[in-house]
Amino acid sequence: MSSLSSYSILSQLEEQSPSDHDTFKEDLPLKEIPGSYGLPFIGAIKDRWDFYYNQGRDEFFRARMTQYNSTIFRSNMPPGPFMAKDPKVIVLLDAASFPVLFDMTKVEKKDVFDGTYMPSTGFTGGYRILSFLDPSEPKHKALKGYFLSVLASKHDNFIPLLRKSLTELFKTLESQLSSKKEVNFNPISDTYAFEYVFNLFCGKSPKDTVLGSGGNTTVDTWLVPQVVPLITLGVPKLLQLVEDLLIHTFPIPPFLVKSKYNKIYQAFSTSATEILDQAKSFGIEKDEACHNLIFLTCFNTYGGLKVLFPSLFKWVGRAGPTLHSQLAHEIRTIAKQEGGVTFAAIEKMVLTKSVVYEVLRIEPPVPFQYGHAKTDLVIQSHDASFKVKKGEMIFGYQPFATKDAKVFEDPEKFVPYRFMGKAEENLKYVFWSNGRETEDPTVDNKQCAGRDLVVLMARVLLVDFFLKYDTFTCSDEVFLVGTKVTFKSLTKASNGV
Ligand code: HEM
Repeated sequence: MSSLSSYSILSQLEEQSPSDHDTFKEDLPLKEIPGSYGLPFIGAIKDRWDFYYNQGRDEFFRARMTQYNSTIFRSNMPPGPFMAKDPKVIVLLDAASFPVLFDMTKVEKKDVFDGTYMPSTGFTGGYRILSFLDPSEPKHKALKGYFLSVLASKHDNFIPLLRKSLTELFKTLESQLSSKKEVNFNPISDTYAFEYVFNLFCGKSPKDTVLGSGGNTTVDTWLVPQVVPLITLGVPKLLQLVEDLLIHTFPIPPFLVKSKYNKIYQAFSTSATEILDQAKSFGIEKDEACHNLIFLTCFNTYGGLKVLFPSLFKWVGRAGPTLHSQLAHEIRTIAKQEGGVTFAAIEKMVLTKSVVYEVLRIEPPVPFQYGHAKTDLVIQSHDASFKVKKGEMIFGYQPFATKDAKVFEDPEKFVPYRFMGKAEENLKYVFWSNGRETEDPTVDNKQCAGRDLVVLMARVLLVDFFLKYDTFTCSDEVFLVGTKVTFKSLTKASNGV
C-alpha cells in the first residue's frame, strides 16, 4: 500500500468541527430522576439477576434507558446483598453528565474503586491502597505524588523493556501457531505483560524471584477474589443460582490467598528496593509503599493490560487487512525516517494513535466509575437537569457515555481514523482513564496515574506487531471482564524494517 487512504478521510474530518456539550445549560427543564430501587433487598436481588443473567450488562442499561426515556435514572448496582451496604445508585449514561465523576469538588471517591462494595484490606496488607483514597485524604497526595515520580524516573525504560517482552510474546505466539490451527492469545499476553511490568518496577524478571515462571498465575489467584463479585462466569442456567450464591453474595475471605500474596510481597520487597527506598521522602513507610506498589503493578497495570491487549487485537483484527496495511505502512515509514521506535517516532504515527484512542473509546477497559455526591448538586444530561442529594451514590457506565450519539457520529462503529486531524479535539470525550483524555492526572484528581504509559504501551504493541507482520486473522468472544482473542493466522512482513 503506497499511500494512506485514511489521509483523504482526514481532510474530511478537518471540516467537521467537534461538538461542544460541556457548558452548564440554564434552560434545561428540571426533572425528577426516574427509576426505582424496588422493595428493600428484593429490588437489589432482582436488579442483580437482570444485570448478570436475565438481561446482561448492556441490555440492563439499555432497557432502563428506553423505559424511562432518560440517560439518567435510579437503579441498584450489583453485587448488592450481602456484600454491599447500599446498592442504590444514580446511573449516568451520556457524555454530558458523566464528567461530574471527575469533579473532585462534587464527588467523593473514598472506597469506591470497586463500586458499591470494597474488598477487605486483608488483600493488601491491611492498608487502604491509593486507588481507594479520596484526594481530600493527605495520604492520597503523598502516594500519588510518589508514584508519578516513580513513573517519571522509569520513562527511559518504558519502550526498550516493553519491546523486549513483546519480542518474546510474538515469538511464542508464532511458534504455537506453527504447530496449531489456532492459539488463545490471552495467556501469552498475560505472561509477557506481567514479565514487562514486573521488570519495569522491580528491575528483574519475575522468573528470577521467588515467584518463578508462574508469576502471573500467582497474581491472578490474588486478583480474582477481589473482582469476582463484578462478573459472571457465564455458567449454564441451572448453575446460575449456585454461582450467584458463591461469588455475588458473600465476599471471598483474603486468608484463602494469603500464602500467594506473601510470595508476591516477598518478590517485590526484595526486588523493588530502589523504588521503595524513595518512598520515605514522600512521607511513606516502606511497608505501605510496597503494598501500594504491588497493587499498582499487579492490579492497576497488569489487571488493565489483561483487558487492553486482547481488546486491541479484537478491534484491529475485526477491521481487517486494509487497516492492517495502512498501519504497517505508517509504522514502517516513520520508524525508518526516525531511525527506530522512539517517543518522537510514535508521536508522528497519527493513524496508530487514533486507532488506540478508538479502542479505548469503543471499549473502555474499566467500564464502571463511582462517586458519592459531596454536596447537593444538579447533574445535566443533554436534555434535562436533575437534583442529586448529598451522599447519594453516582455511577457512570462508561461504554454508553463514550458511545453517545450526540457526541460521536456512528458511535457503535469502530472508526480507526476517528481522532485524526481536527477531530483530535473530541478526545475530551474519551474517558477511559477516569478523566478526559485532554486533561492530566495530578495529585488532586483521581485520573489514572499511568494514563500516558497505558497509551504508550498500546501504541508500542501495534508498532512492534506491524513491524513484524503484514496482517493477521483472529476471532473474539466475551471472557470475564474482557475479551478472549484466538489467533488463526499471522502473515510475516514482506517489507518490514
Ligand atoms: C490498561 C491499563 C489501565 C487502565 C484501563 C486503568 C484505568 C484506571 C481507572 C479507570 C482508574 C480510576 C478508577 C476510579 O477511581 O474510578 C485508574 C486509577 C489508577 N490507576 Fe490506572 N489504569 C491502567 C493502568 C495503570 C498503570 C500502568 C498505572 C501506573 C503504573 C496505573 C495507576 C493507577 C493509579 C495509581 C490509580 C489511582 C489514582 C488515584 O487514586 O488518584 N494504572 N486507572
